Amino acid sequence: MSIENNPAEMLMNEHEIIQQVESIIHSMDGLWEHDPEKYRAMVSKLLYFFREYSDVFHHRKEEDILFPELVNHPDFLLNEIIDELEEHHEMFREYTQDIEDLIESDNLVKAHLLLTKYVNDLLDHIAVENDELFSIAENLFTESQLENMYFRFKDIDLELGEDLKNELEKIPQDLKNKLSENAY
Ligand SMILES: [Fe+2]
Ligand SMILES: [Fe+2]
Repeated sequence: MSIENNPAEMLMNEHEIIQQVESIIHSMDGLWEHDPEKYRAMVSKLLYFFREYSDVFHHRKEEDILFPELVNHPDFLLNEIIDELEEHHEMFREYTQDIEDLIESDNLVKAHLLLTKYVNDLLDHIAVENDELFSIAENLFTESQLENMYFRFKDIDLELGEDLKNELEKIPQDLKNKLSENAY
């Protein structure tokens, strides 16, 4: 599909931003032993990123627009995939809360185990969307339906604030820089 305003491409670009956290989380392993305050600060920034970027900017496009459009399409027969993906989003919200609780109760080892599990589940989820769901959508919808969806996605960004989106998109790189600063 080579349309200019492609909603699947927009979601995939957001996925790429989200995927950057994988290497950060792996590099944070053990950081709490040397610098627990830095570890806490980084987790808190990650949770902020997950809540505001992954959940608000990204999941909202899927849950409010893409998923319902697919479910309402007469030729879409995989409603159970959508149910599963929506359950994952719900599970991701619970993960962020549980990680925050573990950090607050000073259980950094467990927090990190859960963070690692979270990012693995998130990457699997993204793979299903990229490899299966988006190609189904691109085949099912007409070009004008896809463009229409793209502009509805854009409206969400405008409503939430594109400046905020740009700021949030810098978080993974900021965290990478923070990690390489006075590396131990
Ligand atoms: Fe999703
Ligand atoms: Fe997604």
